[in-house]
Amino acid sequence: MKDNRLAGKVAVVTGASSGIGQGIAVAMGRAGASVVINYHSDEDGARTTQQQIEQGGSQAIIMQADVGKQEEAQQLIDAAIKHFGRLDILVNNAGVQQDKDFLEMTLEDWEKVMSTNLTGHFLCAQAAAREFVKRQVQPQERTSAGNIIFISSVHDIIPWAGRANYTAAKGGLQMLMKTLAQELAKYKIRVNAISPGAIKTDINRQEWETEEGKQKMLSQIPYGRIGEPEDIAKVAVWLATDEADYITGTTLYVDGGMTLYPSFG
Ligand code: BGC
Repeated sequence: MKDNRLAGKVAVVTGASSGIGQGIAVAMGRAGASVVINYHSDEDGARTTQQQIEQGGSQAIIMQADVGKQEEAQQLIDAAIKHFGRLDILVNNAGVQQDKDFLEMTLEDWEKVMSTNLTGHFLCAQAAAREFVKRQVQPQERTSAGNIIFISSVHDIIPWAGRANYTAAKGGLQMLMKTLAQELAKYKIRVNAISPGAIKTDINRQEWETEEGKQKMLSQIPYGRIGEPEDIAKVAVWLATDEADYITGTTLYVDGGMTLYPSFG
């Protein structure tokens, strides 16, 4: 069902060709936003996202970019201004895993994950914030000059053997988010993170597709079900609306209780 909670707003969603990013882009479109769909290599996936948004009656364009490259990150933000005349929301979602035991991990494994999961978030946030600061919003107004949402992970606090690159990037995101929230509040820019738990997407398909993997995952989720992209998308839409105007510098764990140390239960 379409609603108007984000009518007139423009959102850039990185990594929106599948999974959580796709879910968020579609949900933002459903809430009335125009969307710039970023993808890295899955153009077909990005087209699917676009079709779903257009079918729901909102506008969307697709934009290929490696968010870890400064020029491409800038072009992504510029695309919103060029096509839709403004930017209100950046959802920094693009993320990859390249798991390897620490003793085997190469510099390449490290840098690949850092580039997309941390540097890319920095670059897009900076380009977006430079747009947002042009808006003059007074402190007493109950709306923001712009919204930045980082899609992090429960692994910004839960260590995870065999993924030192991934957890280091997610831990880094946590402080990047908080520092930006502190630094940019005077411009009325809100900066927050959503940290999903186990959400059924391609990134963890290998685990939830096998019965054994699925049972292991479920044993880590007190709430008893594996999440869906929609679980994250709903929260992202709400966080981007003025309903959440007084929220900045916060991480929302949307994880069915995964961060509650279930093995102590
Ligand atoms: C990872 C998934 C994993 C989930 C919970 C996410 O950040 O990308 O592979 O299933 O955390 O452990």
